[in-house]
Amino acid sequence: MSNTTLSIAIMSGKGGVGKTSLALNLACALHQNSFKTLLIDCDLGLANLDVLLGITPEGNLQNVLLGDKPLEEVLYPLEKQGFDVLPAASGVPELVDMNADTRDLLLRRLEPSLGRYDFVFMDLGAGISDTVQSFAAMAALRIVVVTPEPTSLTDSYAMIKVLNNRYGLRNFMVVVNEAASAKEAQDTFEKLAGACRHFVHFEPVMLGPVRFDENVSEAVCHQKPLMRCYPGSPAAQDIQNIAQRLQKARLNMLDWLGQRGILHLDV
Ligand SMILES: Nc1ncnc2c1ncn2[C@@H]1O[C@H](COP(=O)(O)OP(=O)(O)O)[C@@H](O)[C@H]1O
Ligand SMILES: [Mg+2]
Repeated sequence: MSNTTLSIAIMSGKGGVGKTSLALNLACALHQNSFKTLLIDCDLGLANLDVLLGITPEGNLQNVLLGDKPLEEVLYPLEKQGFDVLPAASGVPELVDMNADTRDLLLRRLEPSLGRYDFVFMDLGAGISDTVQSFAAMAALRIVVVTPEPTSLTDSYAMIKVLNNRYGLRNFMVVVNEAASAKEAQDTFEKLAGACRHFVHFEPVMLGPVRFDENVSEAVCHQKPLMRCYPGSPAAQDIQNIAQRLQKARLNMLDWLGQRGILHLDV
């Protein structure tokens, strides 16, 4: 059977730019549009998806790695939110500093269960550690989250450059988060795209802006997704638009995904 699952790595050069909030709210929005999504917390240093969702999972990536629990027991189904979560393991040295063997083992155990999802999001740690790079290279698509801050821009550019040099990756999509206006978001994207055009000779694709919105932190305090607490808020509307663009992107990629498979294991 041909693959139809789109795997997406959510990444950023700098921490605290909104990766986890974006990932979980996209999963919510996609569920509302009847798509099945798995969210894998791959932030092995600062795993906090569980906190944002107010859940206390019993199993995590480490159990998958050790093979001491069946994956079905480790996947945490959020019935109310309509998507599944695979929690990260915090403070496991083998995972924080993952070598190629560990990573391959993890993926071989994971991959057979991913086909039932339409989208698999990998919420990565910030920066460009080897672990982050290899997760990013396995995904079919990468979303780089930037904010209008200059350091966020330069770090994002550095990350794209490293991934392009090392793995030849070119398909990056950009979400400009915490933008004050559509214009600020577009200007921020243009700066990043300009640097890429000039130095690495390709451009990322603008996936959309997410406006700065106090409701995002409010939702975090309630440990509930923004899409549930404040569905009409500006950031929720922006995320809904992004979810729709991802649905279109997936449709356009289906032929390629069929040949490629869910994750690239030979990176
Ligand atoms: N669009 C936004 N508007 C306002 N605050 C935001 C927005 N996106 C994220 N935040 C806030 O930024 C903080 C970091 O978000 P988080 O998703 O944990 O970032 P990361 O996963 O990149 O470290 C959170 O407290 C969140 O409430
Ligand atoms: Mg995070």
